[in-house]
Amino acid sequence: MSVKEKLIQQLQTKQARVAILGLGYVGLPLAVVFGEAGFVVTGIDPDARKVEALKQGRSYIQDVPTEKVAQLVQAGKLKATTDFAAIKDVEAVSICVPTPLRKTGDPDMSYIISATDELAKYMHQGMVVVLESTTYPGTTREVMLPKLEQSQGLKVGKDFFLAFSPERVDPGREDWTTYNTPKVIGGITEDCSEVAAAWYSQALETVFPVSSAEAAEMAKLLENTFRMINIGLVNEMAIMCERLGVDVWEVIEAAATKPFGFMKFTPGPGLGGHCIPIDPLYLSWKMKAFNYNARFIELASEINTNMPRYVVGRVMEALNERGLPLKGSKCLVLGAAYKPDIDDIRESPALDVIGLLEKKGALVSYHDPYISTLTTHEGKVMESVPDLMQAVREADCVVIVTNHKVYDYPAILKAAKFIFDSRNALGKAGKANPKVARL
Ligand SMILES: NC(=O)c1ccc[n+]([C@@H]2O[C@H](COP(=O)([O-])OP(=O)(O)OC[C@H]3O[C@@H](n4cnc5c(N)ncnc54)[C@H](O)[C@@H]3O)[C@@H](O)[C@H]2O)c1
Repeated sequence: MSVKEKLIQQLQTKQARVAILGLGYVGLPLAVVFGEAGFVVTGIDPDARKVEALKQGRSYIQDVPTEKVAQLVQAGKLKATTDFAAIKDVEAVSICVPTPLRKTGDPDMSYIISATDELAKYMHQGMVVVLESTTYPGTTREVMLPKLEQSQGLKVGKDFFLAFSPERVDPGREDWTTYNTPKVIGGITEDCSEVAAAWYSQALETVFPVSSAEAAEMAKLLENTFRMINIGLVNEMAIMCERLGVDVWEVIEAAATKPFGFMKFTPGPGLGGHCIPIDPLYLSWKMKAFNYNARFIELASEINTNMPRYVVGRVMEALNERGLPLKGSKCLVLGAAYKPDIDDIRESPALDVIGLLEKKGALVSYHDPYISTLTTHEGKVMESVPDLMQAVREADCVVIVTNHKVYDYPAILKAAKFIFDSRNALGKAGKANPKVARL
């Protein structure tokens, strides 16, 4: 039996042991899905606090219930360690490490490189490795493959199998999960695609193989670039509508009645999260090496990046109309997470809005039911106000940045002196309301 045949058999009988490198928003749900499918999964993460939590059967990711983790840990299906030597004893490895940007705006590949270096130390014959982190096309082949082949003299497609499979999880979403969102997989060779698909199809509902790792890498970037550009477009629509004196929310609602050829996007105070503001810049960076300027990406990024400044400018104008300078006014930012109903503040536009308001001399506080404390870009540590309604009553301006569902918007509207609603959280009640200005 060839190495490939033996490995596929181990995967299909769930005898192959699995390791997940990186136990964050992507890695932990994936570890749980593999554990629930019957694999023995070892999560490896340098963050000792996460490892300790998992060992105690505790989840630290909102979308993953603690009961599920506890059950898997008790059943011996989920283990966690900070020790990469655990890779010696597994056949299947999935890598879910961060891919942020450097301060210069270039891709920060250090996490993928360090995870690959650790993996390379313990590689052995009969392994399948899948990279899940969002990255530029060519990463799997150009960055990972040479390291994995060179360290132990193993040959890809023969001794081990390497593929890319983008994670598409949408935190906070309940209808589409890690389990049922179709999974694109592209291998370095055809055999790599086959082995990786054989593995993932044991645990995930639908697997969609493509012919190369690059096609899979690029598919993810198309998805996220599509979102980034459409958000940029609708943000620019909001700016244009304001100049024209037209209600952008009404325009969007009307356009969305078209049953075909239109997809609804909504404007807001800026892009946030680990993915949409960042991933397309991995592609534009890569294209520079081909002497190609990714113009749509650059333009959408420029518009989206400017939205917090635009919102603060509108708040300033609206206060001015009420005879108040922004300087010295009490501003309560409502919602700090980058999108509704989640506890993730990474790249949140709230941080920009708070920083810009403070720079103009406003007295800023914030409230978020999911984020009890935050550190601004300027390094200031803030705590969510303890009494929401009291803070609403006291504020000269409530700035709705993130429209969490748990907020009682009619009560907030009633209690507030003035609201700037950047998300249309108040809906029709905010329209033509003298107490409200909207994006
Ligand atoms: N969060 C999302 O919604 C989402 C969705 C789709 C894709 N992605 C992509 O998935 C990747 C991971 O994102 P995330 O949100 O899970 O990040 P995260 O920061 O929540 O988790 C990453 C984990 O990797 C660990 N880590 C760092 N270096 C490591 C190493 N060398 N070896 C092993 N573990 C290491 C960190 O300690 C952390 O626990 C990124 O490329 C991201 O763009 C994220």
